[in-house]
Amino acid sequence: MIIHDLLILGGGLAGMRAALEAGKNVDVAVISKVHPLRSHSGAAQGGIASVLDRSQEIGDSLESHIKDTIKGSDYLGDQDAIEILCNEAPGDIRILDRMGALFSRTGEGLIAQRDFGGHSYARTCYASDKTGHILLQTLYEQMMKHNVKVYPEWHVVSLITHENTCRGLVAYDMARGELQVFRAKAIVFATGGYGRAYGITSNAHANTGDGLALAYRAGVPLQDMEFVQFHPTGLYRHGILITEGARGEGGYLINNDGERFMERYAPNTMELASRDIVSRAVQTEIDEGRGIDGYVHLDLRHLGKELIMSRLSQIHDIVLSFSGIDCTRYPIPIQPTAHYSMGGIPADAYGRVPDIDGLFAAGECACVSVHGANRLGGNSLLETIVFGRRAGITASEYVKKTTLRPMPPDTLPLVEHEINLMMNGKGKENAADIRMQLQSNMILKCGIFRDIDGLTHMQQLIIALKERFNNIGFRDRGMTFNTELVEALELKNMLDFSETIVAGAMAREESRGAHARTDFLMRDDEHWMKHTLAYRGEQGPVLDYKPVTMTRYGPQRRMY
Ligand code: FUM
Repeated sequence: MIIHDLLILGGGLAGMRAALEAGKNVDVAVISKVHPLRSHSGAAQGGIASVLDRSQEIGDSLESHIKDTIKGSDYLGDQDAIEILCNEAPGDIRILDRMGALFSRTGEGLIAQRDFGGHSYARTCYASDKTGHILLQTLYEQMMKHNVKVYPEWHVVSLITHENTCRGLVAYDMARGELQVFRAKAIVFATGGYGRAYGITSNAHANTGDGLALAYRAGVPLQDMEFVQFHPTGLYRHGILITEGARGEGGYLINNDGERFMERYAPNTMELASRDIVSRAVQTEIDEGRGIDGYVHLDLRHLGKELIMSRLSQIHDIVLSFSGIDCTRYPIPIQPTAHYSMGGIPADAYGRVPDIDGLFAAGECACVSVHGANRLGGNSLLETIVFGRRAGITASEYVKKTTLRPMPPDTLPLVEHEINLMMNGKGKENAADIRMQLQSNMILKCGIFRDIDGLTHMQQLIIALKERFNNIGFRDRGMTFNTELVEALELKNMLDFSETIVAGAMAREESRGAHARTDFLMRDDEHWMKHTLAYRGEQGPVLDYKPVTMTRYGPQRRMY
């Protein structure tokens, strides 16, 4: 048994930021399925949004950032939390800068900022097109400097709660091939997103929504899961992110007729409309036959080689490596790609998860909700830093006032039994096949556009896939680095939370942000200005709702 005051689950930006803050006061450890430096935060490219001191020179303001974020959320974001996100951003950027984050600079040596979709001003601070990577390195260095304990390549199998209080968790130490019980006074979930439930995604293989499923199975409802963000520009067939920064720098989208089609969808902001709008436009061009074999083009050629190689060099490398295309000479084939989850574990602006004492959440796995129905680019890195820090502070204050509570006695045997049953059964079902069925159908039936027929089909399919999952067969029955076991546990997680995405989407009879119902085309504020909560029930998700917090801007028609 391993004991710490506070466990941080996830070694990405939110987890490391929380650990750094909490580690000032209490004994903290980070558990991560991958080494922190391989966390998916490192794949964030284009930047982190924040108004900076000099922003007034171009007319920008905190109020404008707040207003853009609320509008971007299609008015479903909680405005008190959005105010915190935007107001605390400049201070957090200063801290990152002082930690040594290598932001790109203007000629005067100031942090450079670029345009991003849905933002009224160029306020996205960036480090070339490797912003997440740079921030990840920076925070990891700080973790090493401050001797934060890390358990890398440990897969958490079960969250242990008792009488609505958090007691600890059971994790699989892949390298040693052992299950271990961790006890802690509190746990911060910072487990990231779940894009891997979709066949085309910008997300890393590790992004299987494990944290969401662990919390859901422990009785925490999942909030607003129907809102799944598709990034407009994923590399065709691969789904790899081609940053919005490429459009921020002046890249544009063209269809098979060579038309800059965004003029028809968002005449004022064109390619820099919010993501839900640009993704739907790209998909519509493809669906209506104006694409080129299932994709449209992102054209950067006019930007010139020098700019591309200095500000978008990773994009150049990715497109060359995966598609054999030199984007300084040819346009890039792109299609929308599942990118980000607006929903997740409900948490307040202090990271507290309402239903379980001692449980906290931050970053993409949390739903605070600052993104509502659609997140603006650059606000995700910002969320990890602002709310990671805040959750770290609150959790450490909580830990100081709390004693270590006992673990239910049968914790480990129960988990061992479950894993033994799964690994040593006589089932013949193939987990990879079940996973592919889930991924390909989620894209088709619960993707950018949804309707009740497709969603009903998806609901039935998940029930059938769960049945099949109960009969999966294992070829590797050893415990050391058993990737078959990890993939099976991940699949179980994806099947569990995917049900909540589908259930939320079926119930929400309107179109709002990233949730576009072709059978309910309009936003319906009278009936649907509310957050969805999906609880785990005997027969699948049970839905409830809670109000949206509105402090300053009432809903308006979104025009870009
Ligand atoms: O396009 C991008 O670089 C992605 C940024 C984000 O999701 O915030």
